[in-house]
Amino acid sequence: MSVSMRRTLIAGNWKMNGSFASNAGLLDGVRAGAAAVSGELAVCVPAPYLAQVQSALSGSPVRWGAQDVSAHERGAFTGEVSAEMLLEFGCSYVIVGHSERRSYHAESDELVAQKAQRALASGLTPIVCVGETLEEREQGATDAVVSRQLAPVLDAMRTQLASVVIAYEPVWAIGTGKTATPEMAQQVHARLRAMLAERDAESAQQVRILYGGSMKPDNAKDLLAKPDIDGGLIGGASLNASDFLAIAHAA
Ligand code: PGA
Repeated sequence: MSVSMRRTLIAGNWKMNGSFASNAGLLDGVRAGAAAVSGELAVCVPAPYLAQVQSALSGSPVRWGAQDVSAHERGAFTGEVSAEMLLEFGCSYVIVGHSERRSYHAESDELVAQKAQRALASGLTPIVCVGETLEEREQGATDAVVSRQLAPVLDAMRTQLASVVIAYEPVWAIGTGKTATPEMAQQVHARLRAMLAERDAESAQQVRILYGGSMKPDNAKDLLAKPDIDGGLIGGASLNASDFLAIAHAA
């Protein structure tokens, strides 16, 4: 458990999964178990389900959010969803720069920073994802990659640094069943916090840095025991209420 004032955040990333019927059961399960969880719980869902999630979770301690947001405020951007729209559905969070968006939708570090800034300016908390590929790790480039990804975000945030959530998600661990060891993850989390501290030492202590990549009930405890791992961004295991809650209880 982190020895700090940072409140653990366990956030689900449903990705492009769900249906009205399956969401209903999942949300009921999460809501029912949430009161017994001491940390914070959130689910980041496909945008078309936000109304359903808002009505299922309103009045519960569970927060919700989206998985992407436009860098623009409004206008001729077909297919995009704005931060203001997400707010109308009661969102607290939005994931930005997930590796699936960086690789399948060619999102650049600069675009990710603009999205994070737009989210924050609207009152949403961005969960900014960074992480290296297997090839980059094998080349010893992990620190350089996450630094390059995070730098424009930190430039864009400046005074609001403390309001950001960062997620370290090694690409090779996402959906693969291969988790970074707690030591490997802690090393990168400490590096990220040091980068934050170079900008603002006080805020750096408040920023929550989540680990993501095959976090499951059986490996969550050891990961979350590390001093700079303040929670998890959970993909596959967030689609099952009891697994998701078990991870939250490990925190
Ligand atoms: P996973 O996904 O838990 O299924 O590995 C994590 C993520 O991509 O956020």
